Amino acid sequence: MRLDKYICQATSLTRSQAKKVISQGRVTNGTNTIRNTTYKVTTNETIFLNDKALSIRGPRYIMLNKPQGYICSTVDEQLPSVLNLLDVEKRKQLFIAGRLDADTTGLTLITDDGQWSHQITSPRKKCAKRYRVILADELTEDASIQFQQGIQLKSENQPCLPASLINISNTEVLLTISEGKYHQVKRMFAALGNHVTALHREKIGEIELDPTLQLGEWRYLTDIEVQSIA
Ligand code: URA
Repeated sequence: MRLDKYICQATSLTRSQAKKVISQGRVTNGTNTIRNTTYKVTTNETIFLNDKALSIRGPRYIMLNKPQGYICSTVDEQLPSVLNLLDVEKRKQLFIAGRLDADTTGLTLITDDGQWSHQITSPRKKCAKRYRVILADELTEDASIQFQQGIQLKSENQPCLPASLINISNTEVLLTISEGKYHQVKRMFAALGNHVTALHREKIGEIELDPTLQLGEWRYLTDIEVQSIA
């Protein structure tokens, strides 16, 4: 993590105050004074501010831009867990709030706060999730109405809750659903005789995937993002 961000997380300083203390030469790693705000803090390192060791405490809330080929499980199975993309020390007690398939990319929230995670995953909370979907075939004109009315999935008794569909092109859409049934998005389009060729989650509740995060990169959530899940 960048040094200025690390200082923000470990203290009550704002980003500009963190930059200031760095430029004033008040930050060291025990050996050297670090004056570069973009310096990457590693997990093996202790950072000192005014000779006092800093650490990040409390519940952790992380957003990760999941690449394909990783699973949303805390342990490796046939494929590696997304937790492998975090530093080793950080993985302890973390779990994933809302799973994605191995071939799905995008916004993945990781935390050690069970109650917070429950707000995202509990069916009763109806937390909205927005996906960018690429389809094999062109959508019919009435697709958006069908999604609004509730798609009937194969082997389910009840139709899905109303979902919102925005067309980007004939084969690319933004779909917002407020449930998390197994393979739900793929099964919804399969129910219409279509096939999802690429799936990317962009938003959970009010939390949008940070566009500066490349696939495989992560950052801590801001306080505002954490508090937006209530
Ligand atoms: N729906 C799916 O079909 N797959 C995902 O990964 C997420 C939602």
